[in-house]
Amino acid sequence: MINAQDIHDGINIINQTQTEADLESARLHWLGKKGLLTNAFKALGALDKDERVEKAKSLNEFKEKIQAALVQSKLRISQILLNEKLNQQLDMTLPARDAIKGNTHPISQVINQLHRFFELRGFTSYSAEHNFDVEEESNNFSLLNIPENHPARSMQDTFFIGSQLLRTHVSASQPRILKQLNPPIKAVVFGRVYRSDQPDVTHVPVFHQMECLYIDKKCHFGHLKDTIDAFIRYLFGHSMKTRYRSSYFPFTEPSVEIDVWMPEEKQWLEILGAGMVHPNVIKNCGHDPDSFRGFAFGVGIERLAMLYFGLKDVRQLYGADVELLSGCDLWQ
Ligand code: PHE
Repeated sequence: MINAQDIHDGINIINQTQTEADLESARLHWLGKKGLLTNAFKALGALDKDERVEKAKSLNEFKEKIQAALVQSKLRISQILLNEKLNQQLDMTLPARDAIKGNTHPISQVINQLHRFFELRGFTSYSAEHNFDVEEESNNFSLLNIPENHPARSMQDTFFIGSQLLRTHVSASQPRILKQLNPPIKAVVFGRVYRSDQPDVTHVPVFHQMECLYIDKKCHFGHLKDTIDAFIRYLFGHSMKTRYRSSYFPFTEPSVEIDVWMPEEKQWLEILGAGMVHPNVIKNCGHDPDSFRGFAFGVGIERLAMLYFGLKDVRQLYGADVELLSGCDLWQ
């Protein structure tokens, strides 16, 4: 039969174990299916009642002691393992893992650059307060001198949402600004526009524009030309060749479109529409067209980004080619 000395020796051995495996074999030795204590409990059945009660009591005490020693050693060994890990030397000479450096999206870079230029020229960005993707039909069309059934409405295929629509141009911000502010007004708005266009090399159905609006007592075509030429120079330098082409927009008179020359492709690329604000627009929005005049233009941000970064296809701006996109860096 197991006696107190056996238990004492057993606890000593448990207290000296150094690994989890040694501890587990000590546990099996005492408490496993064929362990010493397990067998001793089984043997109780053969004893007569008084002896059985007495032996069972001491066996239970032995069991508790062994169990307590096992728990304590488990803690002790996990502390040993933790210390070993903590003491492992860090190798500071190992090469660092490659870090993927993100970059501001090329479209945002162009927007930031334009923002900087127009702020320096005294324009205020109303991109927060007068910038709505879902617009009233009046702001997108009628107040801009495009009445219902006017063929100009079909110049831009429109998505309607009930009585509202997804704006087809950021010019829809013009009436919002004109209705709220008194001239002189020097405003820019950056935003998304939506047209039912099939995506191709130069088109995506959702793209970005910057609208510029200038209204004052004295304003003439020279102001428009100076502003546009200056921002193109700011972005692309003096060597960029531009061309003013007479055009038509219901909300400007006269109207022009501006192209830039792409030497590699040997062709012109249209980047913006512009003109002197039509007197009807000034009147529709509550101002006197005899006292105020102005200019406006809308520029396609994606087109500028393509030119700036030498991209061949506007859809590259919306692909997931992280290497290409993070390689687009205005400051390089
Ligand atoms: N809104 C026009 C477009 O999207 C551009 C434009 C803006 C033209 C302002 C004239 C004045 O095509």
